[in-house]
Amino acid sequence: LAKIEIKLAEIPEGKSVTFKWRGKPLFIRHRTAAEIAAEQAVAVESLRDPQHDNQRTIQPEWLVVIGVCTHLGCVPVANAGDFGGYYCPCHGSHYDASGRIRKGPAPLNLEVPPVAFMDEGTLVFA
Ligand code: FES
Repeated sequence: LAKIEIKLAEIPEGKSVTFKWRGKPLFIRHRTAAEIAAEQAVAVESLRDPQHDNQRTIQPEWLVVIGVCTHLGCVPVANAGDFGGYYCPCHGSHYDASGRIRKGPAPLNLEVPPVAFMDEGTLVFA
């Protein structure tokens, strides 16, 4: 019974909500226009784990990542850190609002899980 369905209307703009999926935290973030613009403008070649924002979302308003720090597996805190995305307090890794590692010891971006849109308002994880 790993399958979960999430109603996006329940997540207000600017908020990141945590769900549980396959025993792991799943962060779903309803990004603001300002966050989207800022993440789209980041120079990919400046990143430790170079990925454009477009490679990390199906729709720009919605960021979906596994909430497990790629350093040693702590759960990062939403809307914290120097880059406005997520902050891992264990050893100080800062992720941006695209879930990309920007500062601190983590080697990789937060993982984007496979997601299927059931319809416009619902995300399904199988
Ligand atoms: Fe997140 Fe070490 S586990 S910084």
